[in-house]
Formats: sequence, C-alpha cells, structure tokens
Amino acid sequence: MNNWYMACNRASLIIGGKIPEVYRSRTFSGILGDIKALSPKKALSLINRKKGLGLQYAYLYLTCGIDNGRGDQTCAAEALTYLLKKKRNNIVRGNVLDVGCAVGVAAGVLGIEKIIGFDLFYDLLYTARIVDSFSGANHSYITADMTKTWPFERCFDTVLCGLVCHHLKEQPDLITFFSEANRVLKPGGSLVITLPSGTVSTLPQMSKLVEALETFGFLVDQNLSGMALSTDSSLSLFWMFVIIARKESDNAADVFIDPDFGFHVYRTPVSREEKGVHARETAARQRLVKHEAFTLMSIEELNEKIPEKVLIFENVCELMPVSKNPE
Ligand SMILES: C[S@@+](CC[C@H](N)C(=O)[O-])C[C@H]1O[C@@H](n2cnc3c(N)ncnc32)[C@H](O)[C@@H]1O
Repeated sequence: MNNWYMACNRASLIIGGKIPEVYRSRTFSGILGDIKALSPKKALSLINRKKGLGLQYAYLYLTCGIDNGRGDQTCAAEALTYLLKKKRNNIVRGNVLDVGCAVGVAAGVLGIEKIIGFDLFYDLLYTARIVDSFSGANHSYITADMTKTWPFERCFDTVLCGLVCHHLKEQPDLITFFSEANRVLKPGGSLVITLPSGTVSTLPQMSKLVEALETFGFLVDQNLSGMALSTDSSLSLFWMFVIIARKESDNAADVFIDPDFGFHVYRTPVSREEKGVHARETAARQRLVKHEAFTLMSIEELNEKIPEKVLIFENVCELMPVSKNPE
C-alpha cells in the first residue's frame, strides 16, 4: 500500500479518538449532504457551531472517502493519476494549487511533492497536516472559501480542483471560481477539474461547461477531457468527468453566456429513493475493489456514441466492454 494511504490510516486513529460521542453516528453521506445543501457561509457556520462535527467529517473522509484507495474520493484521484501518467505527463507541473483539497487527497494520490491547498473547513486541513506528519510530506494548507477572492497572487502553474465545483450552486460562485482560477494561474497554466458522476447528465451540458470555461479565458483540450471510466470490473463501475484546460488569456467575462448554466440544474435526474438505493449498492461494490485501470472517453467520442443519452449507470455500463463477473 502506498505510504500516503498508510499515513491516512494512522491519522484516522488519532482523529477517531477526538470525536465527541454525540457525532460518532453521523454518516459521511449525511454530513456531505448537509454541507452541499447549504451555502458555504452556512456550511461553515454549521461546522463551527457543532464543535467536533468537522472532526467526524475528517475521520469519515479518511475511512470511507479514502478507505485504503477503495473510496469514491480516492478513486477519482486514482483515475486522474492513471490518465495523467498514461497520456499527459506535463499537465500537473510547477507550483500547484489544490482547491478544496480536503485531507490532501490530490497531493497524496498523485504523489505531488509540494502543493498549496485550501479548503473551507479547518478540521480537514488539521487532519491533512497529521497525515503529512506521518507521510513526511511538507505541503502548505490554508482555510479559505473558494467563492470569495482567493488569498493568492498569480503564481501557479497548475490549479487542481478535484470533485469540488459541483458544490457551487449559485452562478456568482461559479463565476468567482472561474475568474479566480484564471487570475492565480500564470499564462499557459493548467486547470484540472474532476466532477463526480451525476453532476453532468448529458453531453450538451458538458459542452456548455466547456463553453463557459472558454468564456473565462481557458481553452479546453477536447481530446484530454471527457468521461473517465474504470475498466477492471463493471460490478463496481466507476466514472467521473475530467476537464483539462489551459489558460489562454486573462479573464474578460463577468457573466455567463448561458444564464441556465449550473451544476444544480445539470444533475442526473434520479429520484431520492433511486439515488439512495444506487448509492448503497455503489458503496457496497466500491468497497470490494480498488480500481487499478481506467480509460478516457473524450468529449468527441462520447458525442459519437451517446449524444442524446442521460448519463446514468446503465447507459455508462453499455459503453464499456468489461467483465460482468467479480474478479
Ligand atoms: C468531495 S470533496 C473533494 C476533496 C478533494 N479535492 C478530492 O479530490 O477528494 C469537496 C471538498 O471541497 C471543499 N469545499 C466545498 N465548498 C468549498 C468552498 N466554498 N471553499 C473551499 N472548499 C470547499 C469541501 O470541504 C471538501 O473538502
């Protein structure tokens, strides 16, 4: 097991011992759901008011979200690592900013030597520092809200934003995200975004995201962006979206070209009940395997294969000729 996963295990023992009894029964999806339903300001106020709830969140992050590489959060970072190693050596380079870094997932899984990471929640960063003390890493973390001006100058070659953008529901927050990412990147710098399955439900929505990024001074690489899928077992098929863009020019926009743009309207339409069943099944399957192999279907390929389909599990499964049996 990689050193970072072992460091997460060791940190979970420390964090686990500090959680007040009253929050120990809170689940990962429950806390995440609360946070996603609130504005950043209210989510922060909730975590600050309920002292110790943030530690439970961090603990669950280490144990469920990461789970020795089997959780959804690390799976996304593993997929990105796999694809970057395969095709795109020079995308994540130089001075790296990790937006919404949580416990330092991108740096840990991608094996980046030094990052600057920021997150809304202090407890996650406190935990990231404990993980680093075990892994020997020397990253820098700061608490900040990505929907406000970021506390950095233009000094980054890469901005990573793994599984975070879909937290932004209001258009002004998305505008801040795109504008700030542009502002802190040096000319030609890379913006790498991953989005979980379910946050984009059709290909036209994906194209709108590409257009939006272009409005804000980025050029999206259409061959390197698209849907990343696990290829080792359809029993626990994992997929997400990857966007790789380059800063082409300074941002000149302050509005969206499409007034309906937004992840809250892009979500795959499933009922609450279906979502619950699917989440439980996926979580159970997810924990069976640590995915080792992924592939990317570029936006172009997806447009050829499933231009009109809603991107739900069954439709995505059809795309992949993978084993139907457990390994
Ligand atoms: C699903 S986690 C992804 C964490 C990590 N980037 C990864 O790849 O696993 C989303 C992260 O975004 C952070 N986040 C959500 N809203 C934020 C905001 N307004 N400002 C900064 N961080 C935020 C959350 O605290 C959480 O750590």
